[in-house]
Amino acid sequence: MEAARLGSYLLVHLNKLKKNIDSLREHYPQQEILFMVKADGYGHGLVEIVKSSFQDMGVKEFGVATLGEAMTLRKHLPNIPVEIYVFSDLQFHQSDLAECYLENRLIPVLSHEQDLKIFLKEERFKHLPLCLKFNTGMNRLGFPYEKAEEVIALLKQHGRGEVDHLMSHFANASMPMDKNNRNIWQKERFKEVKEKFQKAGISLKATSLANSGALEQDECKDETHIRPGLMLFGPTSMAPQHLRKSWWQGVIISELKTTVLHTFDVEKGEPLGYGSIPAPEEGTVAIIAMGYGDGISTRYRGATLYHKGVAGRICARVCMDMTFVLFPKGTPISRGEEFTIWSGDPEKFGQLSHETETLPYELVIQLTTRVPRIYQLD
Ligand SMILES: Cc1ncc(COP(=O)(O)O)c(C=O)c1O
Repeated sequence: MEAARLGSYLLVHLNKLKKNIDSLREHYPQQEILFMVKADGYGHGLVEIVKSSFQDMGVKEFGVATLGEAMTLRKHLPNIPVEIYVFSDLQFHQSDLAECYLENRLIPVLSHEQDLKIFLKEERFKHLPLCLKFNTGMNRLGFPYEKAEEVIALLKQHGRGEVDHLMSHFANASMPMDKNNRNIWQKERFKEVKEKFQKAGISLKATSLANSGALEQDECKDETHIRPGLMLFGPTSMAPQHLRKSWWQGVIISELKTTVLHTFDVEKGEPLGYGSIPAPEEGTVAIIAMGYGDGISTRYRGATLYHKGVAGRICARVCMDMTFVLFPKGTPISRGEEFTIWSGDPEKFGQLSHETETLPYELVIQLTTRVPRIYQLD
């Protein structure tokens, strides 16, 4: 069906994704991109994002969070020769599920001793890439950096002289890399871990540390890989007060569109919708065809949305399928018109995220399956 006839939909511009990837590559010409596409490609649609990134943009490595996401990718794209890393919910301790890694050519990012022991002990995993993640200060998953020697001893015990990919992950990449103590600390700890492996005679084929915030600050150029997620979809992940630290000028690759169902004028204080919440001002109300059933949270009340350059505010209680937007009285807006909740403008996207107290990561991810994702290449 034509996008414009669908009512509400997320239009994903794959050419803009390409633009973002090209721009990142210009800054990191030596590094391979390991594109993080967990949570359904940050809400944009896992399969389409991976397919296009590989076919049209030449990205060959992807990261997901769960074994289920990885299996979905292999099921829908059985013939594309990409590497898929599973980062957190590995299910590696369950023997039959661990077998899925072999059957589907998946790479477990090992970050726990129990999984590493299984991996090293069982002959069947011998030819799977060995990928290890260290905790250098994020304090979530990862081998503690203090235990690098123990991990090295374990590898040696099993005759391993090489690690295919050694990683760590920043906790505060949205903060300045040169000033934030935790960032400085993490960079130093990762360097130490790498040196310990090298001193022990274990070669490191690939290393990576940087996610979007670090990449926006031109960091980690001595690693072989970079691991961007959010930035490739357009938004910055820098904290607003540190924006000047970022060179990134990403384009938001999606546009969220819906329809105006009804418009009417209201006086200040007139009750609107569930709970009869008074209109905060006089104005023209537009009822748009998306609500919390689509992922427009009730917390969005008060946020600014624009129609043809005129600012309106979400008012009253967001309903399951509809939202009230209050514009200045007489704003030309009428039933049946298309309404854009966000488009390519990173500042307005950032404003929506800020006003709704929703991470830029969440805005797209929380759109429900009711919102079709439509892809456009040009
Ligand atoms: C281990 C790891 N690397 C990289 C990323 C990408 O992060 P970002 O979306 O901030 O670029 C993530 C995302 O959460 C992650 O968990």
